[in-house]
Amino acid sequence: MAPLQVVRTPGGPEPLLRVRDVTLEYRGNGGTVRATQDVGFDVFGGDRFVLLGPSGCGKSSLLKAVGGFVAPAAGSIELDGRVITAPGPDRMAVFQEFDQLPPWKTVLQNVMFPLLATRRLPRAQARERALHWIDRVGLARVKDAYPHTLSGGMKQRVAIARALAMQPRVLLMDEPFAALDALTRRTMQEELTRLWEETRFTLLFVTHSIEEALVVGNRILLLSPHPGRVRAELNSHQFDLSSGGSAEFQGAAQRIHDLLFGVDTPATAPPERIAL
Ligand SMILES: Nc1ncnc2c1ncn2[C@@H]1O[C@H](COP(=O)(O)OP(=O)(O)OP(=O)(O)O)[C@@H](O)[C@H]1O
Ligand SMILES: [Mg+2]
Repeated sequence: MAPLQVVRTPGGPEPLLRVRDVTLEYRGNGGTVRATQDVGFDVFGGDRFVLLGPSGCGKSSLLKAVGGFVAPAAGSIELDGRVITAPGPDRMAVFQEFDQLPPWKTVLQNVMFPLLATRRLPRAQARERALHWIDRVGLARVKDAYPHTLSGGMKQRVAIARALAMQPRVLLMDEPFAALDALTRRTMQEELTRLWEETRFTLLFVTHSIEEALVVGNRILLLSPHPGRVRAELNSHQFDLSSGGSAEFQGAAQRIHDLLFGVDTPATAPPERIAL
């Protein structure tokens, strides 16, 4: 096993997103469910930061907290030094479900909608911006189509175009490709990587797929099973879609698997900051 190394030393640039000791809880008639405990991480501008962990470890809850939909029971989340208290257009989200597009709006109307609703741009400029992003995700041909006529992959492309057209400070993605077939999923990972190469947006991406985390992310936060605690933070910038079959990639995937599920690594162990 490779030696453990510190991946980011303190004293660097200020993080764009600062998550500190965040505990998330849901209170209901049946009692309180603790989704995460004392989770902390920093996301820097241009990061492709991945939250990776088993089902139920609180990945979606963390993303919702960053989105401003769930308030932490303890800890804090800051964007650009300001505590997040509500949803805002500086954090656009893409979810797994294909029904996130209003079905009565065409592709173009869907992408224009947040630009108009937030009064970000006047109509003519919103249309121009929307057309630009629809073209960037390869959907120019179907700009006047309604969502029910599109494939799952095309719907996710619309959601990505709609989010990026808003130029958010951070793009939140919750398993956006999980409901797609394997080939389409790979294509979408390729397209997202290409868009990032061209635009260098900041991404916070949730997945439970180790392989997806390695190809999409440059940094990965591993969370322990329910309630999610930070198990380790990994640097994964050396991998891309072409590394899939390499021994180095397979070794990294195995190492993450061991960190997530290894019997010798109790969930309560202090987090490790390591390079793969
Ligand atoms: N609205 C809610 N009300 C009550 N409990 C909730 C709610 N949302 C999530 N939980 C609970 O919080 C915990 C974490 O859920 P969460 O959806 O964040 O996990 P996840 O890591 O995204 O899982 P998955 O990989 O299956 O999507 C789970 O125990 C879940 O049952
Ligand atoms: Mg989830």
